[in-house]
Amino acid sequence: MTRQYNVVAINGSPHEGFGNTSQMVAMLGEHLSREGFDLEEVFLSQHNIGYCTGCATCLEEGACWVRDDYKPVVRKVLEADAVILASPVFFFNVTAQMKTFLDRSLGYGHRPQRDWKPGLVVSVSAGYGETSVADYLSRVLRAFGAFSVGQFTAIAVSPGEFIGREAVEARAADLARDLVRAVKEGRRYPATDQDLRYWQFMSNLIKENRDFMVADVEHWQEMGLFKSFEAYVGQRRSHPTATPDIREAVARGHREQPQEEAGTAAPAAAGSRPGTPGNARELLEMMPQALNPKAAEGVTAIYQFEVSGSETFTAHLAIHDQQATFHEGPADHPNIIIRTPAEVWLAIARGELDGTTAFLGGQFRIQGDLGLLIKLKTLFVA
Ligand SMILES: Cc1cc2nc3c(=O)[nH]c(=O)nc-3n(C[C@H](O)[C@H](O)[C@H](O)COP(=O)(O)O)c2cc1C
Repeated sequence: MTRQYNVVAINGSPHEGFGNTSQMVAMLGEHLSREGFDLEEVFLSQHNIGYCTGCATCLEEGACWVRDDYKPVVRKVLEADAVILASPVFFFNVTAQMKTFLDRSLGYGHRPQRDWKPGLVVSVSAGYGETSVADYLSRVLRAFGAFSVGQFTAIAVSPGEFIGREAVEARAADLARDLVRAVKEGRRYPATDQDLRYWQFMSNLIKENRDFMVADVEHWQEMGLFKSFEAYVGQRRSHPTATPDIREAVARGHREQPQEEAGTAAPAAAGSRPGTPGNARELLEMMPQALNPKAAEGVTAIYQFEVSGSETFTAHLAIHDQQATFHEGPADHPNIIIRTPAEVWLAIARGELDGTTAFLGGQFRIQGDLGLLIKLKTLFVA
């Protein structure tokens, strides 16, 4: 039997069912239901949810004492497989209904659920404020243990009067698909600077106010959240891909760079001369003329290039007595072999791609003396 997933959309618009926010939620719902997801839309304006009194009981005792419709509504959010927060823009912000609901959720803001279930945000304005409201709602999602798979925004004044309705509908289809996939596959998105900022801020705040934020302290301790950012986001730091050898060689290369070139975005490898090479072969043929004799002082080396991709050839550059010469074919004893797609080498030479980044990212490979690769940057003037 396939599992039935349920999505809860909290709608802060007073235009229940016919407003633009509702129409956008419905667009998502259409796609979600095709995937067998149930979508429940909760209109905050139909519920009796009072203002937060700012008493901070929720931080001290762990729950709000006010008895109204808040609890049943927030329970739906916490129990859903995925959550949608939706609000039109009222005076550059969410509506009062949404803000009231969020203020009452302060305890969750302090004690994140950390389920990391997928969420979406929806916001529409008459033309000013929907993206910042979507950013705000995305940040709020994490209080309810959710992360944002995307922001569904649009511009519309009167109900149904969307600018670019087709684009709005297409976006709904894309986001619904992402949400479905994230739920079904238990996906996580990469942790963000906002997660880090939240964790740093909140852990400090709670520690500094531990005498009255008693419930918060217990929650953070029980969940091990104080330990590390990794513990909070539930994502481990992966092992570095660059070995210490490579890092050291790269650092050495930067240190050895002549002063006037330091700090420029000169590619780590290719050189150039006046005139633009049309392809990788031309580029290599032109490189001897771009040799910097001062940097080549005392250097005797053979650079072999094995070019693939749109051009396939092998050639080598011999450097000796402060001169470089281009030769077709492989060398007898190359000191370094650079295996690169033609496009990659050209992009580096044109400054469109950083040589170091390309190398560390595996876009080209070398065999032999890594130090010579690093030296290329200074040997040939850009
Ligand atoms: C009180 C109020 C304030 C509004 N403030 C803004 C605003 O700051 N920026 C904006 O672009 N539109 C603003 N609007 C327009 C609504 O955001 C817009 O009409 C939206 O489509 C309404 O969505 P709804 O039908 O889901 O309620 C405001 C509308 C109202 C009623």
